[in-house]
Amino acid sequence: MKRQILATASALILAATANIAIAGGDAAAGKAKAATCGGCHGANGISAVPNYPNLAGQKEAYIVKQLKAFKAKTRTDATMNAMAAPLSDADMANVAAYYSGLK
Ligand code: HEC
Repeated sequence: MKRQILATASALILAATANIAIAGGDAAAGKAKAATCGGCHGANGISAVPNYPNLAGQKEAYIVKQLKAFKAKTRTDATMNAMAAPLSDADMANVAAYYSGLK
């Protein structure tokens, strides 16, 4: 019983660590990738256009989730479907790390 609890606990810790590793993008690489995004979402992640969302300070996991949905076209927006299409999973994680770190 005790051993089982220990095994479960270490499995959970491993899973949690793996999640952090997946979520943790490289903000510097993301900044370079985000050069094309700034035209609509603002150079500092704050958009000047009413129907273009702000990305500064947005949750990292949420940004990744939305970009994946745009790429898969389960979230449809002609502009963002096209913008997300060439992004790799690493690009998405990096861009998300960059925008979530902006204030
Ligand atoms: C030509 C303008 C334009 C460009 C360029 C653009 N976006 Fe967008 N983006 C939009 C619009 C418009 C929406 C809102 C879509 C909708 O209404 O569903 C959006 C939505 C998003 C969202 C979802 C935000 C939310 O709150 O749900 C994310 C994330 C995002 N864009 C990231 C990016 C990234 C990363 C890039 C660069 C690779 C980029 N966008 C380039 C116009 C643009």
